[in-house]
Amino acid sequence: MSLDVSPQQFKCWIDEAGKLVASHYQEHSEAKVFAGKSPTEVQELLGEPLPDDPQDMGSLLDEVGEKILSTITNSAGPRYFGYITGGGNQVAVLAEMIKASLNQNNLKWHSSPVSTELERLVMRWVAEFIGYPTSSAGVLLSGGSVANFNCLAVARTIKAPVDISDEGIYGSQPMTVYVSEEGHSSFDKAMDMLGLGKKYLRKIPVDDKFRIDPNQLEEQVRTDKNAGLHPICVIGVAGTTNTGAVDNLNAVADICQRYDLWYHVDAAYGGPAAKVERTSDLFSGIERADSVVVNPHKWLYVPFEAGGALVKNPDHLRKTFSTIPDYLKSDEQNRGRTDLMEYNLPLTKEFKALKVWMTIKAFGAARLREEIAADINKARYLSELVESEENLELMAPVPLSIVCFRYNPGGMAGSALNDLNDQIIQTIEADGRVFLTGTKIHGKTALRVCFINPRTEKEDIQLLQKVVLEIGSELMEKGV
Ligand SMILES: Cc1ncc(COP(=O)(O)O)c(C=O)c1O
Repeated sequence: MSLDVSPQQFKCWIDEAGKLVASHYQEHSEAKVFAGKSPTEVQELLGEPLPDDPQDMGSLLDEVGEKILSTITNSAGPRYFGYITGGGNQVAVLAEMIKASLNQNNLKWHSSPVSTELERLVMRWVAEFIGYPTSSAGVLLSGGSVANFNCLAVARTIKAPVDISDEGIYGSQPMTVYVSEEGHSSFDKAMDMLGLGKKYLRKIPVDDKFRIDPNQLEEQVRTDKNAGLHPICVIGVAGTTNTGAVDNLNAVADICQRYDLWYHVDAAYGGPAAKVERTSDLFSGIERADSVVVNPHKWLYVPFEAGGALVKNPDHLRKTFSTIPDYLKSDEQNRGRTDLMEYNLPLTKEFKALKVWMTIKAFGAARLREEIAADINKARYLSELVESEENLELMAPVPLSIVCFRYNPGGMAGSALNDLNDQIIQTIEADGRVFLTGTKIHGKTALRVCFINPRTEKEDIQLLQKVVLEIGSELMEKGV
């Protein structure tokens, strides 16, 4: 007995679901960004026993509207400035629906020829978009953390002094990896998961623009070598999570060349700005990396999840991930087929490439670059607003589209000023008109705002400034 309904009925469902989606897009400007519900409220809203009986689609979609749409954090909306969260795009919404209906699994070429070849194609496009060799091999994964893990696993396999795949790390002296103090936490996790150990991730100090200090990097590599350790990889960051800083990628490449180290560039966020006119100089040298991570689900406006890993030499990927048991050998003759299971950790993998392909085709590379340039302008506009307001203080340079600032009414310092800004961040969340997150810059609490959403307009940025000033002064009046 099939779970399917008649074609007419299915079409009705699609129409009804489509109305729900369209209504969500219409309501963007009025909706609160954060619903303001407590964990208990959300649990109570959703909680129910395992349903035994079927529910008709009309009431199920009503429930989606009432329970789900009313509770989301509206990251697709124009006033969501938190983390590095893209707003997706409507073309990809259609792609996601089509993808789910096709249910492709590109574990091997013949399990989904189109999904496999489209993934290879879009990763070549992504490489071209950022100025990386298109002869590289790319895979789409769930996000930057997993993509960074994928690349670090390759670096470990290729640069380890022992045969890691068979022997593990046990026969090797400790292997060291280098990244700036501003590197993403996914590298700490990867070091742990890959058995390399977090303490062997050397965090190199940064300059006043939050870029890795190449001299201190080289000194640390030499010190480690002299101590009998085995350096394997340096990570350059092209768009740090905190401030958007881009390391001097050529200087890092030179050091990797000198010491025969794997060169990985984490461009998960910043990569798409690499060929945007006003920022392209910053990314010079990215083409020298052995591997690069760039996330379509950040600054290419593709909805979650789509993180991309590019590796210059496809054989390095295969050497790291190829494991072929009997039950996966069914089409083993070499017929020019690429099995993506040999390029990454997952076996089953959804058809992620469709939404990337449809997005790039629907808008074109030139338009996407225009939107990226516009996001950079928005960040510069906010930094001007901050600098023109005496109660606000810019905390870091703004090379890309992240702005770090704080409310600083004067006469306060140290932990009192940090506490005030922590309170501001929490109050803004509850207020719900805008959504931002916080970080620390040199130990000082900063409000952190990221622009990677073309729906954000100048008025939204003005509102953001107004909300921060309003909430800051209210908290001051209350003596918090
Ligand atoms: C520079 C950088 N690398 C890696 C990541 C991790 O990406 P994801 O959240 O997709 O796992 C992020 C996330 O913001 C990032 O900014």
